[in-house]
Amino acid sequence: MDALKERLAAELIAARERSHLLTSLDDADLVSQVSPLMSPLVWDLAHVGNYEELWLLREAVGIEPMRPEIDTLYDAFEHPRATRPSLPLLPPGEARAYIGTVRNKVLDTLEGLRPENVPLFEMVIQHEHQHDETMLATHQLRRAPSPLREDGLPAGTAGTDPWTPETRIPAGPFTMGTLDAAAYDNERPAHRVDLPAYFIDTVPVSNGDYLAFLESGGYDDERWWHPEGWRWRQSKRITAPAFWFKEGVWLRRRFGDVEPVPFDQPVQHVCWYEADAYARWAGKRLPTEAEWEKAASWDPEAQKASRYPWGDEYLPGRANLGQRRLQPSAVGSHPEGASPSGVRQLVGDVWEWTSTAFHGYPGFRAHPYKEYSEVFFGHDYKVLRGGSWATDPTAARTTFRNWDLPIRRQIFAGFRCARSA
Ligand code: AVJ
Ligand code: FE
Repeated sequence: MDALKERLAAELIAARERSHLLTSLDDADLVSQVSPLMSPLVWDLAHVGNYEELWLLREAVGIEPMRPEIDTLYDAFEHPRATRPSLPLLPPGEARAYIGTVRNKVLDTLEGLRPENVPLFEMVIQHEHQHDETMLATHQLRRAPSPLREDGLPAGTAGTDPWTPETRIPAGPFTMGTLDAAAYDNERPAHRVDLPAYFIDTVPVSNGDYLAFLESGGYDDERWWHPEGWRWRQSKRITAPAFWFKEGVWLRRRFGDVEPVPFDQPVQHVCWYEADAYARWAGKRLPTEAEWEKAASWDPEAQKASRYPWGDEYLPGRANLGQRRLQPSAVGSHPEGASPSGVRQLVGDVWEWTSTAFHGYPGFRAHPYKEYSEVFFGHDYKVLRGGSWATDPTAARTTFRNWDLPIRRQIFAGFRCARSA
């Protein structure tokens, strides 16, 4: 129990350090909105503290609301992102003071931690990290230097350990989802899924691969596109991934820098429609999320699933996670992080679009509240898997399900393809 308390405290503190770093800007930059898709950064900052107060102080131990009048401001369902800058939000200094007070009280309660509250702590830790990734996407949209500094995780070199382009996953059942209490409700319950044999790309689709689609006129050929995707492409006049532009050579903007598009990295900032079009052009399709998960977690020899592709323990260096490098690693990197089937980079680098719409698994039960997952089921959301270079390891695992609309490109998302065997 003491080791557990120490781990939870350390993880809360690590998440907060990152949140503070990501909001180490002038007040004017924190309160302004760079895109209607995103909140002002000061909203994310106070929201993570308000969420922590709600679950770890009020719900877990019954402490009275500290500032009930601000709850509605930070309720993601009452105010869509686009309207958040016009709310009477706590100014940055007050927001920092408020979340600091909440945090000190939470750390005080850890002493008397009740085992049934541990999943709430895991949820709050992951929640802050997820907002940290969202804040980083806001920084990317700001087109200004990110406040983060790379800390030297090896870049990973492609080609040092060759791979075959596709990996065959034999037919048969596997266990999808988890019973882990640290996972979100949408990952439960674990259940058997039987799949026919399929091929899945061993590595994500690279910028070089994607450029071949683009340069062969892929954006102008309706045949490759989902009808809705074609309409989106036409109305927005999309001709390349977000943040790409051509000045003789293809360049990309990454935070404050403009640099040549690195052909060996996984493509990112493409939406589901672009991924879907590329796959059709390549004579393939996107994997279903079940296909993705089986390739990532299932050990056909041992007939068991693991939390990470390489096993149940998180091992730094096996995946590009945690905002340590500020871009994906080259395709083929981190071969020691491959799954039992030999598929690489499933966790980290880029979120991967799947063909699957976001729904609850058979037997799903909302926990601890239905606005986390359930209210998103049955809409237009597509599932993304694996986590990106900007995802913290605590929120990345083979069962983790992210979701977004098929037109979204500001997230750190790419994809790999699959085909039926
Ligand atoms: C899982 C990334 C889609 O940001 O909407 C944050 C995570 N939920 N606060 C989102 C989340 C509540 C969620 N995503
Ligand atoms: Fe949130």
